[in-house]
Amino acid sequence: MKNKITLITGAAMGIGLACSEAFAKEGATVIMADIKKPNEQAQKLVDAGYHAVAYQCDVSDVYAVKKMIEWIVLTYGRLDAALNNAGIQTPQRPMAEITNDEFDRTVAVDLKGVWNCMQFEIEQMLKQGEGAIVNTSSQGGLTAFSGQAAYISCKHGVIGLTRTASLDYAAKNIRINAVCPGVTATPMLEELVTRNPKLGEDLVRDIPVGRLGKPSEIADAVLWLCSSKASFVHGHALVVDGGFTIH
Ligand code: NAI
Repeated sequence: MKNKITLITGAAMGIGLACSEAFAKEGATVIMADIKKPNEQAQKLVDAGYHAVAYQCDVSDVYAVKKMIEWIVLTYGRLDAALNNAGIQTPQRPMAEITNDEFDRTVAVDLKGVWNCMQFEIEQMLKQGEGAIVNTSSQGGLTAFSGQAAYISCKHGVIGLTRTASLDYAAKNIRINAVCPGVTATPMLEELVTRNPKLGEDLVRDIPVGRLGKPSEIADAVLWLCSSKASFVHGHALVVDGGFTIH
């Protein structure tokens, strides 16, 4: 990834932060975008001698996303790789008890946020004649969990969007794939388990390797998907879940 200009959304913590660190260590210049500008996180990488910059952007705001991509192109001249990773959870409730506002916000970030980013990323990658995009779905993009109708719908949608866009742009030298993390130890998971401790126990019990995933393990998969080692990989939803989706 040496000198590759890479955008990562949801970069302030969890999987996005681990991916930012992994890409920076491989020599990429990482634009760390988040709804809360991750100044300290980017500075830490810069202090360690890597190339990173913090950018504030709400991915559900299409105008903000357009401005961000324009800024990247103006500043660095191109966009080689992007991880559309920003996401939120919704309160765990049976489907009919999830409010319309909760559903709309989840879709706005978890699905439309990916859509917004891809539109402008692809526009730039078409101009360059190449690029690699990874969208963060979930093991929940391939299966379902009760109480998570809004989130699960979005994560299924991310895989559909990834596959379709991949068909649209494979011949244009743009690779578009998804990563489907299993239960990974991040602030998002902590919040979920704090609200429902039994869920935490159930989740680990159902993971064949018997432990949570580490954000760095998801980052390794994303790195591979964005690298030239995955040059023939298009429209794939790569599951990184300690075996959860086997059963
Ligand atoms: P996290 O909650 O630890 O981090 C998410 C980051 O996204 C935060 O820094 C947050 O500020 C940012 N964000 C939220 N809304 C945003 C918006 N509108 N615009 C820009 N940034 C925004 O979450 P985690 O666990 O790192 O999740 C990252 C991605 O991985 C999400 O898409 C999530 O759905 C997915 N995922 C996580 C799993 C897990 O077990 N942690 C499992 C499967 C998928």
